[in-house]
Amino acid sequence: MCGIVGYIGKKEALPFLLEGLKKVEYRGYDSSGLVVLKEKAKCVKAAGKLEKLEEKTKKETIKGNFGIGHSRWSTHGPPTTKNAHPHSDCKNNIFVVHNGIIENYKEIKEELEKKGHNFLSQTDTEVLSHLMEDFFQGNLEEAVIKALGKVRGTYALAAVALQDPGKIVAGRMFSPLAISVNKEGGFVTSDPAAIVSYSKKMIFLEDGDVAVIKGEDFFIKNLKNKLKEREETKIDWDTEEAQKGGEPYFMLKEIKEQPESVANSFRGRLIEEEGTAKLGGIESVEKKLRKIEKIRIISCGTSYYAGLIGKYMLEDYAGIPTEVDLGSEFYLPKIDKKTAFLFISQSGETADTLSALKEVKNKGGLSLGIVNAVGSSIARETDAGIYNHAGPEIGVASTKAFTSQVVVLSLLTLFLGRQRDMDIDTGKKFAKEIKSLPFLIGKILENMEGVSKLAKKYKSYPNFLYLGRRYNYPVAMEGALKLKEISYIHAEGNAGGEIKHGPLALIDKDFPVFAICLSDGVYGKMISGIHEIKARGGKVIALATQGNKEIEKIASDTIFIPKEVKILSPVLAVIPLQIFAYYVAVFLKKDPDKPRNLAKSVTVE
Ligand code: AGP
Ligand code: GLU
Repeated sequence: MCGIVGYIGKKEALPFLLEGLKKVEYRGYDSSGLVVLKEKAKCVKAAGKLEKLEEKTKKETIKGNFGIGHSRWSTHGPPTTKNAHPHSDCKNNIFVVHNGIIENYKEIKEELEKKGHNFLSQTDTEVLSHLMEDFFQGNLEEAVIKALGKVRGTYALAAVALQDPGKIVAGRMFSPLAISVNKEGGFVTSDPAAIVSYSKKMIFLEDGDVAVIKGEDFFIKNLKNKLKEREETKIDWDTEEAQKGGEPYFMLKEIKEQPESVANSFRGRLIEEEGTAKLGGIESVEKKLRKIEKIRIISCGTSYYAGLIGKYMLEDYAGIPTEVDLGSEFYLPKIDKKTAFLFISQSGETADTLSALKEVKNKGGLSLGIVNAVGSSIARETDAGIYNHAGPEIGVASTKAFTSQVVVLSLLTLFLGRQRDMDIDTGKKFAKEIKSLPFLIGKILENMEGVSKLAKKYKSYPNFLYLGRRYNYPVAMEGALKLKEISYIHAEGNAGGEIKHGPLALIDKDFPVFAICLSDGVYGKMISGIHEIKARGGKVIALATQGNKEIEKIASDTIFIPKEVKILSPVLAVIPLQIFAYYVAVFLKKDPDKPRNLAKSVTVE
């Protein structure tokens, strides 16, 4: 999920590596490192900002015409210098940088330790360098192919070896990686932004590819060691466009990343045949969680709305009474040992949430985290937790973090429910729904054009009301937050049943309503609400379930989402609302990535 760069050619590698890492800094990272090879391997790593790495390289003589570099977005092991990539084998012969998650790293690590391999880091990645060592007999790509045959999970990787010099070996499985060769030399990168100023022609590797770059020459094999031909792609992006993956804004890129980020959130964590979840980050408190009789969720903004959905799931499917508090409103008169406190935060640095966490810790409460940024303050301060693995979120308006938070909350519900009296069939149904999400999100993203047309039609209204019930009431509030924070249109989210208690007074032809009325238990009541709104001249955009034949006769406009998901419908329902808000902002010529007055992480109370 972070940055890989590699260079091999006639020039010194170090400047290319440092510049390439600078070009992918925008992605967010927590540590970095590089290795340059000549007679010896010079490996330098640093936690924190890239400047730290640069300072370290200035203190050494680092010469060599090939090398690899990495900026890390930690998933396994805190962001320390030791855990930074590259990771090497026992002999300091092979060096590897990696993006992604090695799902079966624990069993591989145990096997290799039994064979005498000595591990220096807490990462999943390090198993790659030691596996390659195990298979190395002088040819690096052969060792890489054999090692990857043992690996389950996702990777983009680059590897070099002192004992097989003059080449970079690159491999890809589910995590992007490109290579490029020209008169400047050979390049490897996980992000075109790193090399687009040197080369506009790239080969985007495909899953299972292993490329060998030798300067101006390269070849590609698959995991069966068979040569493969790959098309070259011409990139006409400049660096900034490349950083957004060719999209105009990070927010759109991150909306589109949700099939992958949601998949990464549950990757390696579902045990479908047992209808349960495996959550390594809370294993240490597993016994304490069995005794919990209440959960209090504390979070802010979008994370608060995710928490509200978590409340419904935890109460309905794990049978645990759950309360959700805004970080800024949290107070704790006294602690009770039967309550667990769950802190949800994308950045892991939100001051309001962090101060609530400190109050809980001071009173001896059990604290858990659902955090995206590994090694962040909230992640470090909580007793245990579950990382989102959604990858860096750059846009201020949270999108993929929200869907990943709801997925992680569903995994926690599954875990706690199966500790209690959730039966295996319900567990399996839960797991099946979770697994279906990436594909169904992809189906919704196919209709971006239709949603953008609605955004164009409704962009000039000065107010908007979002309505939803039960699991989709928080989605209504999240949809309103998306619209208001990037288009500056006043929008509020209300419970669908509340309009008759006040908000209906607002409704007229200039006050449109977004109504989430999926084919679920509250559909009939939502339809009644829509009739009330229409009777007062209000316009209604309905978010409905595919196959609903009547809704288009009632609503002014309709957006459909797939019907296959019930419990986790919020993960699907929110996507059109994200897209709608994005296009309204763009049509109003606002910058959705950097909305006025707002910061990506609110580190002040
Ligand atoms: C959401 O789009 C906003 N950026 C904001 O409400 C955000 O969700 C809130 O500040 C909480 O941030 P956190 O998840 O990093 O704690
Ligand atoms: N899972 C690896 C680690 O935690 C790679 C993380 C990344 O993609 O940057 O080090």
